[in-house]
Amino acid sequence: MNEYQSLPDHYYIGHIRVQPNIVLAPMAGVTDSVFRRLLLSLGGLGLVTTEMTNAASISPKALARHRLLEFLPEERPLAMQISGNEPELVASAARQVEALGADILDINCGCPSPKVTGGGHGSALLKDLPKLDRLLRAVRAAVTIPVTLKFRAGWDESSLNYEQTAQIAEAAGVNAIVLHPRTKAQGYSGSADWERIAAAKRAVSIPVIGSGDVVTAEAALERLRITGVDGIMVGRGAMANPWIFRQIDELRHGLQPFQPMPADKQLLLLRYLEMLVEFMPEHHATNKTKQLAGQFFVGLPGAAALRKNLQIAKTTAEQRDVILRYFAPFIDGSQEATLEDEPVQAMEDALVES
Ligand SMILES: Cc1cc2nc3c(=O)[nH]c(=O)nc-3n(C[C@H](O)[C@H](O)[C@H](O)COP(=O)(O)O)c2cc1C
Repeated sequence: MNEYQSLPDHYYIGHIRVQPNIVLAPMAGVTDSVFRRLLLSLGGLGLVTTEMTNAASISPKALARHRLLEFLPEERPLAMQISGNEPELVASAARQVEALGADILDINCGCPSPKVTGGGHGSALLKDLPKLDRLLRAVRAAVTIPVTLKFRAGWDESSLNYEQTAQIAEAAGVNAIVLHPRTKAQGYSGSADWERIAAAKRAVSIPVIGSGDVVTAEAALERLRITGVDGIMVGRGAMANPWIFRQIDELRHGLQPFQPMPADKQLLLLRYLEMLVEFMPEHHATNKTKQLAGQFFVGLPGAAALRKNLQIAKTTAEQRDVILRYFAPFIDGSQEATLEDEPVQAMEDALVES
């Protein structure tokens, strides 16, 4: 029995059992149905969430072909995340998302992008907790599926209100909360303070999931152990290392975590391309690969050139050739590769770059 085997390995969001208790963070532009299914296929992942969708874009007519809310049954249990500011409008969107088949409804109260906060959505709600309270109560009354809230620690360091936000959510009938402990003002700078997550956990009795800077299997299990949270959410770490969920599962069970070889990385990328082509029009698939290249290849030697060549490629067939050419010397052994996960700083650089 190792030190991690006695840690809790599941939690409930309402009646939905999440097992293992390690989940994928919603990431706009990244966690579409293809990405979610690709990661689920690698194992160790307990729950996935759609990209954030503006409640105002959800109407019965738009819903039938809403790109951000597309999913396949094998993704279940699936959480759908919406953002908004007007309680009645968000409640109406919530009803439609429930009818579409979401297992869990997640409300975004963390996005720091000015485009989102400008409309009073995302982390802007942290500046008006009475409104957040009304919004959560309206949503809770509108749907029967479990509701979760994902939020930041506060607008800025002088207005930290994560414990109060957690308590408001619990009192409004929210079934579980996810805290990313940076403030809106911090954006992605500095580091995620997991003490704040531990404090939020002490402040409520609903499940608390922590999100921020988990990029290794050890870090995930250590944070689970030290903070006593119910679950861990991994975002950027999963873009750079999609096997992280499997590695966490193996480490927890006393096994040697899987270390991907260049051939594994190549296979995964080719499968990703193939799945994109199956699921969306060719030009979307090409753009998606370009868009993701910034983060997906962090940690690979010569990643900058690889990213550039993928940007230049005009079709997914050309992108496939770029990938095959890039990996060939690593796979035939003529070039050494240490495909290690890079620290968060490198991922942040890649995010700025992309
Ligand atoms: C590219 C990108 C897009 C994101 N989009 C969303 C989103 O749509 N909804 C949301 O709640 N959080 C979003 N986030 C925040 C993540 O879910 C997560 O809380 C944050 O990145 C911290 O976790 P990490 O260090 O594991 O990435 C996004 C983060 C990134 C990097």
